[in-house]
Amino acid sequence: MLPRGLVEKNNELYINKYSFKELQKEYGTPLYIYDKKELMTNIDIFNQYFKGKNFESQVVYASKAFLVPKMCEIISEHNWMIDAVSLGDLYIIDNSMDIKKAVFHGNNKSMEELRFAVEKEVGIIVVDNYEELITIGMLAKEYKKVVKTMFRVNPGIEAHTHSYIQTSLLSSKFGESIYDEEVLSKIMNFYVNNKQVELLGFHSHIGSQITEKDAFLKNAEVMVDFTLKMEKMYNYPIKELNLGGGFGITYTNEEVDLKEILQAFVNKLDELVASTNIKKVYIEPGRSIVGRSGMTLYTGSMIKNTFGGKKYLFVDGGMTDNIRPALYQAVYEVLNPVNLNGEKTLVDVVGKCCESGDIVSKDIKIAFSKGDPILVLSTGAYGYSMSSNYNSALKAKVILVDDNIEVISRKEELQDLMRLYK
Ligand code: LLP
Repeated sequence: MLPRGLVEKNNELYINKYSFKELQKEYGTPLYIYDKKELMTNIDIFNQYFKGKNFESQVVYASKAFLVPKMCEIISEHNWMIDAVSLGDLYIIDNSMDIKKAVFHGNNKSMEELRFAVEKEVGIIVVDNYEELITIGMLAKEYKKVVKTMFRVNPGIEAHTHSYIQTSLLSSKFGESIYDEEVLSKIMNFYVNNKQVELLGFHSHIGSQITEKDAFLKNAEVMVDFTLKMEKMYNYPIKELNLGGGFGITYTNEEVDLKEILQAFVNKLDELVASTNIKKVYIEPGRSIVGRSGMTLYTGSMIKNTFGGKKYLFVDGGMTDNIRPALYQAVYEVLNPVNLNGEKTLVDVVGKCCESGDIVSKDIKIAFSKGDPILVLSTGAYGYSMSSNYNSALKAKVILVDDNIEVISRKEELQDLMRLYK
């Protein structure tokens, strides 16, 4: 399945009216390319399908998937909120959109980060633990502000995804368990007695790249129940709920029907919140917004035939622009966009780093001539944002393609590498 802006014509792929040969020549490789049509469609799907009868919907874009000022601009235009997990994120957001639209996460926020958040009045701070709550209470007093918070809890729901991106097992580092009555009583008593720190509602996020709806429905059910229990026990009206992100996408052969998942989710929520005080529900999609809209273009230099029989297609990037295959054994679809149907060879597509784990994708059948552009699909989430300067690689350029092309992040230059040492 191709992103919506891509079309096939005479053995070649085009993005909008642009050939990948042209993009390779004009912008250089490695190059991150975002298809605006796909991006806008994904945003529209959330606007259209995450809409309940019995609650107000608020989408918070999880910026960790891909954060550049242009994304902030697009998110603002849609009246969405945006999440942040560090001072760096907050800084980019503050320079690109209204910081009051930020939702600030993190299990170990520093004093500097919390001061920034309270002073600048970020929209919501998602509190991770009791100690952090005490600190926020102190800062609220010092700055004479009312701080809006949500409290992150761990509902202990197992979602079927890679163990590194599961977040809700009972031993996860995030939030406080919904079963830990002792800590919950301290937290709730704090809120009951502190007028300057407001609890809008609870937050949970059960993992990422979840492709089945059951875990989301279960999360909704457990979290609404939990909210009602806390509200009653502590006589504290709770009007909002944040159910996190995690909506999976198709990389190669996963089948994900986002519309169907959202519809089932909304129906369930409508039913669950109908006779409660919960009037607003937030979700925090990242990957499902940008994942399939982004792709990476490389230049292939050669196919190496090893003595052991394996063939490698070498490209001019790798784990420095996409760590996911090395970190999560993620798999991607790889194409030669200027020769889709030529005679194919079975290869592992690999990068140029000094690591055997520097894999782009294994067991790919591809037609290839020296210098051809090589296109990897669905790299839009957690590619650019997890890129590194390993082996002093330069961060690649990012373009957004529609009828026109916009460079939304320039390529890092050699001089940039020396900036820390001067
Ligand atoms: N909300 C919270 C609190 C999160 O921790 C995350 C992701 C999201 C929302 C967005 O989840 P999404 O909709 O993108 O699945 N680097 C990993 C993914 C880590 C996800 C971290 N938290 C990867 O490349 O698969």
